[in-house]
Amino acid sequence: MDFSKLRFETRQIHAGLDHSPETGARGVAIYPTAAYRFKSCDYAADLFNLSAPGNIYTRLQNPTTSAYEERIAALYGGVGALGVSSGMSAILVAVTALASEGDNIVVSPYLYGGTYNLFRHTLRRLGIEVRIAPTDAPADFAALISDRTKALFVESMGNPTCVVPDLEGIGRVARDNGVPFIVDNTFGAAGYLCNPFEWGANIVVDSATKWINGHGTAMGGVIVDGGNMDWANGRFPAIAGPSEGYHGLNFHEAFGRAAYIVKCRVDGLRDLGPCPSPFDSYLMLLGLETLSLRVRHEVESARRLAQYLREHPKVSKVSFVGFPDHPGYENAKKYYRFGASAVLNVELKGSLESTVRFVEALRLAAHMTMIGDSVTVVTHPASTTHRQLSEADLKAAGVTPTLLRISLGLEDVEDIIEDFNQAFAYVD
Ligand SMILES: Cc1ncc(COP(=O)(O)O)c(C=O)c1O
Repeated sequence: MDFSKLRFETRQIHAGLDHSPETGARGVAIYPTAAYRFKSCDYAADLFNLSAPGNIYTRLQNPTTSAYEERIAALYGGVGALGVSSGMSAILVAVTALASEGDNIVVSPYLYGGTYNLFRHTLRRLGIEVRIAPTDAPADFAALISDRTKALFVESMGNPTCVVPDLEGIGRVARDNGVPFIVDNTFGAAGYLCNPFEWGANIVVDSATKWINGHGTAMGGVIVDGGNMDWANGRFPAIAGPSEGYHGLNFHEAFGRAAYIVKCRVDGLRDLGPCPSPFDSYLMLLGLETLSLRVRHEVESARRLAQYLREHPKVSKVSFVGFPDHPGYENAKKYYRFGASAVLNVELKGSLESTVRFVEALRLAAHMTMIGDSVTVVTHPASTTHRQLSEADLKAAGVTPTLLRISLGLEDVEDIIEDFNQAFAYVD
């Protein structure tokens, strides 16, 4: 079926469904198998040569995961998707499919802390240089590109700042220089709030742990290939030249527009190994069926909570991208449906100690480091995610002792407001 003709809400349910007449099953089956029996030795050889499609071993592919990948690709309008075991492994596989020792990537300064650590420390240890642009302005990316640049990388909404880069402008810089543009679209909720392919992205990565799963029940990540990159422009011999790991196979010639995502699968999963479990892929499929309903509710709740907090006498600052005073406001209006996400940051008046008392007094909102869950989550960066930072680094990261990050869940937001109200009694 051609899913591109269907709307997002329909695709999130129907894409990837198994319409097999043998069973008539409405749900996608979970295949808890590590390996698959080969019909013959010739068939097995064809599979291993990548000259026939089919299942070899669940580290490479699994029917439940294939259904999930099909649904993700349909939601984004990509030529293919790859399910992996976490958002971090999606980024690792996406980047290392392109860059080797001596190459570089140019990245935004507004990144999730885990991504920053991967780029700043681990990739550097592997010999991949990570050039952090001084700002997220397109010209700052352009200035850092060299002939060894293999990708530009941004988050469509930065975690935790919620700044939204000029996707179209950076996409243009990438295209003009023949470099792929990778967008971490975790906040964009599988394309429902933001679809970076509409703005010049070539590759999307997404932490499926968040809004795709939507219930905080599994870890996962996806890579999506837009099929819109010219890999034969001379910069990517690993994709458009003979591949050592596959007897000289040229991915570009063999797989055309899907060359990159095939390479991610066969290099990334075969060699690095971060495959998802079939059961987790099933949970992702289930989560996706209600994604638009959940996200819409959560964004409205975030707006309502932000308004309540803005008026509260014990709050010194509310940073919500849906408010005109937020630095990401204009770009969020352009790139994000509803002009916002379900996440906001708030600074309380008073001391570190009273903020800790507030967090510990919450009864409904969960004190965790998580976003996109069905429960509302409150994170206190100074005592958790940013605990190891010095006072100077905390300041540079904009993390004050009374800062809280809030990700709205599926509750009735009025109950969350009442929960906050009772907890405010503990703030000086
Ligand atoms: C924007 C972003 N990218 C990537 C990740 C990493 O995803 P995971 O925790 O699934 O490895 C996160 C996690 O919070 C994130 O917020």
